[in-house]
Amino acid sequence: MKIIIIHGPNLNLLGVREPGIYGSESFDAFFDTLKKEYASLSLEYFQSNHEGALVDKLHEVGFSYDGIVLNAAAYTHTSVALGDAIAAIKTPVVEVHISNVYAREAFRHHSFISKHCAGVIVGFGLPGYRLALEYFARTQHS
Ligand code: DQA
Repeated sequence: MKIIIIHGPNLNLLGVREPGIYGSESFDAFFDTLKKEYASLSLEYFQSNHEGALVDKLHEVGFSYDGIVLNAAAYTHTSVALGDAIAAIKTPVVEVHISNVYAREAFRHHSFISKHCAGVIVGFGLPGYRLALEYFARTQHS
């Protein structure tokens, strides 16, 4: 089963960036752990700070992969293009946010992508990615 985790802007700085909100573990270290825990899945990771690169990646994987775990970061709250890209592809997308966006500023309460996603996982920190992988590992998609 081919699953990709796609990260949007500033998430390359996880572990360094605002650790009180996002924790102090780098995503590279966490991703190594995930790959060991989910050795039966074929797991990939892609990060970009550029909206168009994220759209391109969704198009590239969105007709052949079994699942996409997407934390679009700030583009969640601004990008009609990412919402349209998810609507256009076939692969199911689970939206993840590390922090509880509903406990933060009002501009983080709206997502342009949620309505196009299979589900949304918010506020559980990095373990939220495990919940998304469990969804794909345990659910039959056809
Ligand atoms: C985030 C929440 C967004 O509001 C923010 O812009 C991010 C990270 C999260 O994972 O909690 O960059 O998506």
